[in-house]
Amino acid sequence: MPAISFDGALAVPGPSIADGLCRAGWYVQEQFIPAELSRQLAVECEQSMLSGKMKSAGLGSGHAPLLQPDIRGDHIAWLEAGRSTACDSYLKHMEALRQSLNGELFLGLEEYESHFAVYAPGAFYRAHLDRFRDDDKRTVSVVLYLNDDWLPEHGGALRLHPQDGGHVDIAPVVGRMAMFLSGEMLHEVLPTARQRLSIAGWLRRRA
Ligand code: OGA
Ligand code: MN
Repeated sequence: MPAISFDGALAVPGPSIADGLCRAGWYVQEQFIPAELSRQLAVECEQSMLSGKMKSAGLGSGHAPLLQPDIRGDHIAWLEAGRSTACDSYLKHMEALRQSLNGELFLGLEEYESHFAVYAPGAFYRAHLDRFRDDDKRTVSVVLYLNDDWLPEHGGALRLHPQDGGHVDIAPVVGRMAMFLSGEMLHEVLPTARQRLSIAGWLRRRA
């Protein structure tokens, strides 16, 4: 399979979300939420970083994640209901997505968890699956990007490695949503040259 690159607007109509997830294991949508909401979330994410409230992300689940900066270099802050109007609004969009995926795919998605993520210049996240040995409930990964004016030379693409070979690079352009199967799609964040903002989240099934 040839390499695919999302560097601008998606010109051809893609398959439906359910089709994409089932057939290819991934899906990308532009303008997933209103532009004004993306802008508010970007401001909140950046403020959170500036105020020193974000924590270095670790590996594994639970409250004592193992810090491994050679594998993962982002800073995170978990989204919680009531954190802000913008977060509450985003959580509503994700609830609608959860319900529509359940309607089409019978994945039994029951919960959603997400965090803001900031990758400082030079940061990356090595190839991994979004499932922990001690927690395999994460089923669909959904990442929303919050960066204006992202250029190819800024790097920081999400690189997917589908099982049929090749790779897919998705630039972290504001309003773009990337979705993939958490336990099957090997993926990584390539080193970024510019501060990179996003919300990474997971639709989870029952234990
Ligand atoms: C993650 C992750 C991808 C991205 O947080 O687990 O793989 O594009 N993020 O930010
Ligand atoms: Mn991941």
